[in-house]
Parts: sequence; C-alpha cells; structure tokens
Amino acid sequence: MAGDLPARVLGIETSCDETAAAVVDGGSVIVSSVVSSQIALHERYGGVVPELAGRAHVELLTPVLAEALEGAGTDSSGRGIDAVAVTHGPGLIGSLLVGVAEAKALSLAWGVPLIGVNHLEAHLFASLLEQPDLGWPLAVLLVSGGHTLLIEVSEPGSYRLLGQTVDDAAGEAFDKVARFLGLGYPGGPAIDRVADEGDPNAFAFPRSLPGDDYDFSFSGLKTSVVNTVRKHPDASTADVAASFRLAVVDVLVARALKAAADVGAKAVCLAGGVAANSLLRRRIEEACADEGIGAFLPSRALCTDNAAMVAAAGWWRLHHGSPSPLTLGADPNLRLATV
Ligand code: KG4
Ligand code: ZN
Repeated sequence: MAGDLPARVLGIETSCDETAAAVVDGGSVIVSSVVSSQIALHERYGGVVPELAGRAHVELLTPVLAEALEGAGTDSSGRGIDAVAVTHGPGLIGSLLVGVAEAKALSLAWGVPLIGVNHLEAHLFASLLEQPDLGWPLAVLLVSGGHTLLIEVSEPGSYRLLGQTVDDAAGEAFDKVARFLGLGYPGGPAIDRVADEGDPNAFAFPRSLPGDDYDFSFSGLKTSVVNTVRKHPDASTADVAASFRLAVVDVLVARALKAAADVGAKAVCLAGGVAANSLLRRRIEEACADEGIGAFLPSRALCTDNAAMVAAAGWWRLHHGSPSPLTLGADPNLRLATV
C-alpha cells in the first residue's frame, strides 16, 4: 500500500436483512467480521419485511459494531481505524439509511474519511479478499436475492454489464419456489439441502435463455414448478427441488461460460448469496476446468451479505478515487459504475 494512505477500514452493511460490521486491513486481511442475521424475524412472513428490517438494524447495529471493533482490538474511540466504508445502495432505503447515518457519525467523530460503497461492487470484492491475484479479465456472475448480473471485469473498478435478469433474480426464484414448497425462508439454502436428497431429472423444467445475449429469465421456471406440483400433488418435494435447482444452475452455468469465452476471460468468478449454492459451485468448477480457465468461488460466508466485502471495496475506492462527502445519501437503485 502506498505511503500513508489509510490501511484499516471499518465496513458497515445494512442494505437488506443482515446487520454487519467488519474491520479489514490493507483491503484484504479480515481482522474481524460480525454478521447478525434477521432470518428469525422475517421467517414467518416468508420474506424480508422492509419496515421490520430497518427497525432491527437500528437495534442490532450498535452491538454488532461493538463486537467488530473489539475483535479488532479497539472500541468506540475508533483508535486505529483509518476510514469508515458503508453500503449506500442498492437495497432497502430504510435499512440503508441506518448504516449510512451511523457511518457518517463515526467518520465525523473519529475524524476519518467516509466511503460510500455500492453493494454490488462489494460482492465483487468478496472474491478479491481471498484471491487478491486474480487474472484479468474476469466474467463475474453476481447472483443474489435482488440481482442476477453477468459482468465483464477488465480490472478492479472497470465493469461492463453483459446481461441481467429480465424478471426475477435467481435468489428470488429460489426464495419463491421454497415458499411455495413450504421449505421456509431463506429459500436458497433450504432448496439446496432438500435437493441433495432428490432426483434432478424427475421433472424437465424449462431452461429459459432469452435472446442470443446474456440475459436471464426465471419467472417461467417458477410458474412451471407451481403448475407441475399442482398437477402432481404427490410429487416428492426433494425431486421437485432437485429438478428446479438443476434448471437454474444449467442456465447460470451456460450463460457464464458463454460470456467467459466471448470476452476471453481468464476465469469465471461467482458472487452474491446464490454463489453459496453447492450445485452451482460444483458445476462452475467442472465447466471452467473443461474450458481450461479458472473458477473463483468465494467461501460461503463471503458470498452472502457481510461487511468485510464492504470494507475491502471501500479501501479500494478510497485509493482510486476520493472519499465521500458527509452529505452522502442512500440510493436504493444505485448502479454499478466504473471508476
Ligand atoms: O447476497 P445476499 O446475501 O443478499 C442480497 O444482496 O440479496 O443473497 C441472498 C440470496 C437469497 O435469495 C438466498 O435464498 C440466496 O441468496 N441463497 C442461496 C443459497 N444461499 C443463499 N441460493 C441458492 N443456494 C444457496 N445455498
Ligand atoms: Zn447482497
């Protein structure tokens, strides 16, 4: 790291239903990372209730921050913290505002720079935390509860959106199908578990590949699952889950590998909560090995929302741009922007 640029960054993440804080050194060494999930709170509603999420962040952020700071050998004095990075979009506005307000207060009180971080860029940096020496360019498949994006990354900070979902996000499809099957929330991990017991070829669900480009569509698949289960009420839930998971993964892998070939990517990189899916991980690894390119799969804890990735992205942004003003706002629709 150059000269006296800030080294130790506190990251704060409150964009959806995880309240998280982490301290990261030099953009890549995780000193402490605390994630408090609100799953129990939203479970009975079958999805995230924005109003409840915002209020829960208000309650949880103070203890989560205290634990992350203590884990980094400091406290509310902020001694040793050189900058504060916070997710300021995209996400739920009420939830984002909780993190942004806290980060501004800490930046002002501690006299350190504030850095507004794009949540999507933070997911991209989750891979860099574990593999700082990735070859470029990369084809990144960012699959979460709110997004399904295929992005060409020619180097950190340089992004080209190749394709995205035209309807549901992949994680959203997992969550909706899981709710329909009575598997609970969040649906991705539940389907992943149950699918391991089922026959992935029991049902031939559609693989939607809209157009010749890199776009995705999952709403037809979801409808097909619903219609199939209504027609075959005795169908094994494990078989339905396994067939659904395979249909999603087939499409994700096909699109990612096509993008990788077209842009001459050195590797395919997974990001976002759905990147924790065990079949997706296996199939991407196999497909990349067949093509002779790399596959970068962040560890599961770094795939789902966390603040270490926010601190890492913030560190990088600070060193390749300027800090954010204390007037930083939250933007629920923030887009991924090249530096
Ligand atoms: O990135 P993330 O933690 O939050 C958002 O930014 O959306 O992603 C959450 C999404 C949820 O839809 C969840 O069901 C999905 O990631 N997910 C999974 C798995 N683990 C989490 N989807 C499929 N398989 C999994 N193992
Ligand atoms: Zn996320």
